[in-house]
Amino acid sequence: EFYIQFRAIHIDPLERKWIAVSLLVVGLLVSIIVIDAFFHGINPPGKVETVDSDSLHLNKEFAEDNLGVQVDGKGAIIIRMVAGRYSFFPKHIDVPSETPLTFRWVSMDVLHGVHIPMTNMSTMIVPGYVAEITTTFPKPGEYPMLCNEYCGLGHNHMWSNISVIA
Ligand code: CUA
Repeated sequence: EFYIQFRAIHIDPLERKWIAVSLLVVGLLVSIIVIDAFFHGINPPGKVETVDSDSLHLNKEFAEDNLGVQVDGKGAIIIRMVAGRYSFFPKHIDVPSETPLTFRWVSMDVLHGVHIPMTNMSTMIVPGYVAEITTTFPKPGEYPMLCNEYCGLGHNHMWSNISVIA
């Protein structure tokens, strides 16, 4: 009886086609999510590099005395910083202008963001992952580095300073 009732509903053939198309699209999106979540693993976009946020003090790269500006064996400038409620460590760095700089950030606690006004530099710092950006400052000057992800009551006061030297 149900079958007879269902057949009795009149749906225009064109509309029927579009219903099929939209169901197909929904099915496709759901299967992409399912495949990503269970077969590929969900990760932040970009180069994925993990870190143990709970033991940064024991981590060679992000131990306190290894933070700040360093020149690696190939002459590249690497800046390592730790974000935590409510500061970036170190609080102040000096870097050269017109030189590629590779920033590497990790969080010691919650999700933070980093944004440098008047530049295109902005990224999330997700606990458990290394956030890396390479950029160049064209002009010398003082640049604030601000947190742009709400991380708690002190969020508004979370910043460091970059002096770009000619
Ligand atoms: Cu850190 Cu907002």
